[in-house]
Amino acid sequence: MARIIAGVGTSHTPGIGAARDLGKTEQPYWVPVFKGYEPAKQWMAKTAPDVVIMVYNDHVNAFDMKIIPTFAIGCAEEFPIADEGWGPRPVPPVKGYPELAAHMVQSLVLDEFDITIVNEMQVDHGLTVPMSLLFGQPKEWPVRVIPLAVNVIQYPAPTGNRCYMLGKAIKRAVEAWDEDLKVVIFGTGRTPPQLPAPRAGLPTRAFAPAFLDGLTRDPERLAKIPPIEYLREAGNEAIELVMWLIMRGALGERVEEVYRFYHIPASSTAVGNIILEARG
Ligand SMILES: [Fe+2]
Repeated sequence: MARIIAGVGTSHTPGIGAARDLGKTEQPYWVPVFKGYEPAKQWMAKTAPDVVIMVYNDHVNAFDMKIIPTFAIGCAEEFPIADEGWGPRPVPPVKGYPELAAHMVQSLVLDEFDITIVNEMQVDHGLTVPMSLLFGQPKEWPVRVIPLAVNVIQYPAPTGNRCYMLGKAIKRAVEAWDEDLKVVIFGTGRTPPQLPAPRAGLPTRAFAPAFLDGLTRDPERLAKIPPIEYLREAGNEAIELVMWLIMRGALGERVEEVYRFYHIPASSTAVGNIILEARG
């Protein structure tokens, strides 16, 4: 049986990818960021999952404003790296797992989640930055990846509760797959403060740590936070945090928090990282 053994929550800020690609990791501004991810990277090397389910959002690269699926699963054999305006990031293409992805779609649709099937897709920093942070700079990624793209770009975004329920359905889907696989699920996206507009940099330091506490101890409460509260309390990009609730829902009731890191500033905002191991 395949099992989701752990969840990783992490920012996917593009500036972090650029800092790594341009060799700036030793610059004083970036040192605390990359140092903060070091234990997470070591944890990942030790854990060595077979498959990663990467919950992230596309930033108008795979999809444009003509079609915006709420939940989309990448079912391709391979996902090329998107050119986001300055050339594709110099990272290996992402290997998929079409059979397991198709099974997940089937199971989720029968479980009444209407998933968009994507058979050809480029992946942007939303997916590649978390890969770089947790897996470093290998010649080839050591894991197969099932991308799960969530719309948090064009309102309405799905609610936290819908995301949490989807996570639970993902757990059921994975456990119905008859192959011994270690699966790690990622929830990615912006941790506050806000980046653009008049509220840029608004200190909302309390929101992210409280969210991380809730993720570990009381996800049911987090799942009830309405979308407007993310915006009001933590700025417009904070809605990306609903993707962390998909990850949390997929871990089951009991988890153990094995690592947490939160740091300001990074690319004019914050970075956050949490690792939760499923405990049944
Ligand atoms: Fe994003």
